[in-house]
This record gives sequence, structure tokens and C-alpha cells, in this order.
Amino acid sequence: MANVIRFNRRWILLLGATAGFLLVCVLYRLNRKAAPPAPPLPIRDTPSYWPTPLEQAVCRPKIYVYKAPETFQVSKRVQEERCHESNYNSEIILHNQLTNASSPIYKHYVTENPEEATFFFIPFFGACYLYNCWAENGWRWDERCNVDTKYVDPMMDMVINELPYWNRTNGRNHIMIHPMDKTFTYYENHARFQPAVFLKTVGDKREKWMQRHRYGRDIVIPSATRVIHHMQVDPLSYLNHDGQPKSGKRDIFVLFQGCCPDVKPEDEYSNGIRSLMFQYFSHYPGYEIGQVIADLEYIQKLGRAKYGLSPMGWTLDTTRIWEFMAFGVVPVVIADGIIEPFEYDVDWDSFIVRVRRDQVHRLDEILRGIDDEAYEYKRKKLWEYGRRVGLEKDAWHFIVRELCRMENIKAPVNLGLGY
Ligand SMILES: *[C@@H]1O[C@H](CO)[C@@H](O)[C@H](O)[C@H]1NC(C)=O
Ligand SMILES: *[C@@H]1O[C@H](CO)[C@@H](O)[C@H](O)[C@H]1NC(C)=O
Repeated sequence: MANVIRFNRRWILLLGATAGFLLVCVLYRLNRKAAPPAPPLPIRDTPSYWPTPLEQAVCRPKIYVYKAPETFQVSKRVQEERCHESNYNSEIILHNQLTNASSPIYKHYVTENPEEATFFFIPFFGACYLYNCWAENGWRWDERCNVDTKYVDPMMDMVINELPYWNRTNGRNHIMIHPMDKTFTYYENHARFQPAVFLKTVGDKREKWMQRHRYGRDIVIPSATRVIHHMQVDPLSYLNHDGQPKSGKRDIFVLFQGCCPDVKPEDEYSNGIRSLMFQYFSHYPGYEIGQVIADLEYIQKLGRAKYGLSPMGWTLDTTRIWEFMAFGVVPVVIADGIIEPFEYDVDWDSFIVRVRRDQVHRLDEILRGIDDEAYEYKRKKLWEYGRRVGLEKDAWHFIVRELCRMENIKAPVNLGLGY
């Protein structure tokens, strides 16, 4: 009898405790429900926030473009035929925008009168000179075709000796482009042009390549890409004006078509990152990971992908990111230490996902953990804003912002772009 009573009392106590616990839970939830959701913050005045609208320029300098004679300049034919396909073609694309009298960039910034110029652009196409040299010599990358004596020297002789502007500032307001992996180090006589500002496609904070990045004197710019700049595919043939696929939805979760399936985890190439992509992620559902495929097939996939992998290769940047961005594919950047183009003005983290090397093995978990709302935020920022950074869009406006700061010119002006 005593046993039964004790048993009952124990049950009653247990039930009571459970009921109490449930009550606390319910009250807690009710209490949370009662608290209103936080509203988005209002916009007071744009100068208090970052990033600045692109049209609100730091200054509007005038740029004079030197004209190099045909005697040493890379021929128009080589520029337009051979180098058009090259991923290093940013030097010619940006030059063409400066010299095309009907381009908006020309109208905004170019002057034909060097006396009124703030900056001087040297039409140096060293990457095209070497690309053509390599193509003509069976792609032997150590071939130089006398680039120093036949190209660097005549170019710099012209700039330094024919007009007085280089000497007036010892070249510091002169600009030239070095769009290849090893930047200016291809040229033995690079000391001659060191005082100039360099525009380069590789931005790298690692100790290993420190001598290739001149802090405060180099501006990182976008790369040229095969699909957008060589084939000149218009993403709007595949996407609606809001950046969503005409085909309906983005049904490829993760896309990567590129090098190299044989990478080992301990390799220098891609710091081993691509080994996980080819050996593991290529088997995951929703992942399209493989080597380079036919252009048209790739372009169609760009129009269907949600995320695009941008892992480092030999350098931290990959040209494919510019194709992803043009097609509204949210880039997943795996490149610790990268300096992205125009970091002072472009809010990269609003439209990319960064995954560190020591987290790449968790890639799927990380991407699946991004909910629809967070994804849509990035996708929209990319489409409305990030996409404009490309060479074919607003790159010059961003370059100019950095030039203004380098020369410490603060003369804000509205460019009237409407964004
Ligand atoms: C010059 O710029 C205009 C306007 O952007 C463009 O339509 C035209 O194709 C350009 N011309 C050349 C030769 O690039
Ligand atoms: C600029 O300075 C160099 C070195 O002193 C000189 O050789 C050159 O003639 C000068 N250029 C001009 C246009 O005077």
C-alpha cells in the first residue's frame, strides 16, 4: 500500500514538473510573438552611408591619351584579331573606351589638350604584344620577342622625351595597364615606368607576391572574359530584366566548368582547393562541376545557375567571376587574401559569398544554410549593382574614383548617371 502511494506521488510530481515546463515554453513564445519585428532603417542622407552612389564622383579629372605611332605600336590587326580572344584584353578594351569619341567614358573624362589634363594614359599593350609573341612561337611562355627594346623603350622614349608632361611630375600622374598574372615583372626595363599608376587584374595580399602589389599605386581592375568580351554575348538574351532566367528558374545549384581535375590537396595550384571540387562536390546533387565545355553549352548553364564557384587558380582571381556576375549568378569566392577590384567603392560582400580555404570541405553545408531571403538579397544586389563593375559597364568610373584619391583631389560632382 505504502509503495503504491509513493509511486503515485512520484508520477504526480513528474507530471507537475512537465506541465510547468510546457507553460514556461508557451509563455516564452507568446512573449516573443508579442514583440514586434524590427523595421528596416530609414535613409536620412546618402553621404552618411557606404557605398556611395556611383554618379556621386570624387572628382571628374581630364585624361589625355598619348598616341603611339605604328612604327612600334602593336598593329590594329593584332589587337583586333589575336588579342581579342585573350583574357588579358582589358588594356585594349579600356583604351578603346577612352579613344571612342561616341563612348560615354570619352565624353566624361577625355581631353585632346594635354595642357588641361590631370592624368595621362599611356597606350601600352604589353600583354597583347607578348600574347601575340607566344602565339607565334608555339605558346612558349618564356619567349620575349625583344619586348623591352622593341616596345617598352620606344614607348617610354616617346612619353618621356617628346612631351613635357612626364617630367613635370616624374610620371606620377601617368597611367598604364598590366593585366597579366605577373603584372609589370615581364619587362626587364620596368624601372623606367615604375613612377606611373598601374591598373592590374591581380590583387593579392599574400606575403609570397608582395613585391607585385604596390600599395597605394596599383588599382585592381576587372578582367576580360571570353563569353562577355570576346563573344560579346548579351545576358539579356537568356535573362529577364530582373535577372531571372527566361527558362523559368535557376535549377543548377552550383556551377563550375574549368581546370583541373587532377589537382591534389597539397598542390600549389589553387592551394589544393580544386581537388575537393573535382573529387567530392562534383558528385553532390545539384552541382555541375567539370572541365571546360563548349561555349554555347556553358552560356546556357550560366543562365540556369544559382551559385558559381570562383576558386583561386595560379592567381587568386578568376576571370569566370565576371561571367557569373554578368549573368546574375552569385559568386562563391574561395581565395583568401584577394584584393577585389575597387574595394574602396564596391560592397563586394553584399553580393558574393566568401568561403575560406579551411572551410571549403563544408561548402555544401554553408551554401544550403543560406535561406531564400538571404540568397535573394545577394542576387538582387548583384543584378542591380555588382554587375555594373565589369569592364563593359562602369569600370572607368570606378578607376577614376581611385585616381582622384591618389592625387588627393576632392571636387565632388554628380555625373548624372541616374544610379
Ligand atoms: C563607340 O562607342 C559607342 C557608344 O558606346 C558604341 O556604340 C560603338 O560600338 C563604339 N565603337 C567602337 C568602334 O567600339
Ligand atoms: C625629361 O627628362 C629626361 C631626363 O632628364 C630628359 O632626357 C628628357 O629630354 C626630358 N624630356 C623633355 C620633353 O624635356
